[in-house]
Amino acid sequence: MINKFFISALLTVMFFSCSTKKFDADRALNYCVAQIEKSIPQLIEDDKIPHNILKEDMSKDWNCTSIYDWKSGFWPGILWYTYEYNGDEKIKEQAERFTKALYPIADRSPKNHDLGFQVYCSLGNGYRITGNQDYKEIMLRVADSLAMLYNPIVGTIHSWPHMKQWPHNTIIDNMMNLELLFWAAKNGGSQKLYDIACRHAEVTMKNQFREDFSTYHVIIYDTITGKKLRGVTHQGYDDETMWARGQAWAVYGFAMAYRETKNKEFLETAIKAVDIFLKNLPQDNIPYWDFHAPNIPNEPKDASAAAIIASTLFELQEYVEPSKATFYKDAAIKILTSLSAEAYQSREINNAFLLHSTGHKPNGSEVDASIIYADYYYIEALMRLKKLQDM
Ligand code: GLY
Repeated sequence: MINKFFISALLTVMFFSCSTKKFDADRALNYCVAQIEKSIPQLIEDDKIPHNILKEDMSKDWNCTSIYDWKSGFWPGILWYTYEYNGDEKIKEQAERFTKALYPIADRSPKNHDLGFQVYCSLGNGYRITGNQDYKEIMLRVADSLAMLYNPIVGTIHSWPHMKQWPHNTIIDNMMNLELLFWAAKNGGSQKLYDIACRHAEVTMKNQFREDFSTYHVIIYDTITGKKLRGVTHQGYDDETMWARGQAWAVYGFAMAYRETKNKEFLETAIKAVDIFLKNLPQDNIPYWDFHAPNIPNEPKDASAAAIIASTLFELQEYVEPSKATFYKDAAIKILTSLSAEAYQSREINNAFLLHSTGHKPNGSEVDASIIYADYYYIEALMRLKKLQDM
């Protein structure tokens, strides 16, 4: 007997697949390939990694950074996604070249939580696509290194040891780095890495969210008792406001933590955190750098936060009931449609994929700029959509 639930689920799936077909993922991905081909000839040294293009530079070319910068994994990660898309061996050579350049990260003592961003986006994608055992070995070493920053009294990883005024601090971005620990525990690393990642997510879930599920950027903990002292901001407008990218990291991080643990509370947290993000988006679906920045609409946007959310929505829709899945998929398509329009794509302006991201507004750095992680999550979102369209 065909019941009502089955018919409604079928209609939802049909509508759902129609709605994803409306966006031309191949066109956007081919645009990315063309921008990469413009960037490659400019990149001479293997250990100088593209990370931003600033408006004030009046240049089409990337500024490069050291392999030890938190952003160093995104360029090789972009190259791996591109190779996955078009199978071009020349792109693979470039991906291998910049991935190998990151190996020395494994030889350094851990300086901060960013190790996951650095090696999971680069070597992680490289390993997923090629199975290269060198990548696996390096990632396992870096996961152990990241775990050294874990404080068992608090139950979280110490994000920024250099911030001595905040003796044990944990930033919401740190959720992203747990993916490396979950991966390592499944790939020959210690079970302790899984336990650390779980505990970090649980403690973060308890302490980093306000009642409305917006997030604090930074939580400062008492190193003796392990208790939360207070929530503050570093990159947002104010301690009590919702910094757009921090909220995006929270959503991505808890969706990923649910994938790895099947802890329903992590999923509920990701859902509530994305719902407040989506509900407060401006008309073009790209957030201002902070949802409570004082001069909206005359504030810079943050395309990177939008790209992170679009990518996450394609994952989250897998875990929710059909009508919510449709809503999430449509929201992701709306974001990608905006990002892929003239207002946000760099096109002839510079060699990045996207314009209008904001790195650190309170410091005045990378404001309204092209930033490498916006491009990374944009191409990741496009690849996730492409896989759904091809199903
Ligand atoms: N993790 C640093 C940032 O999102 O800017």
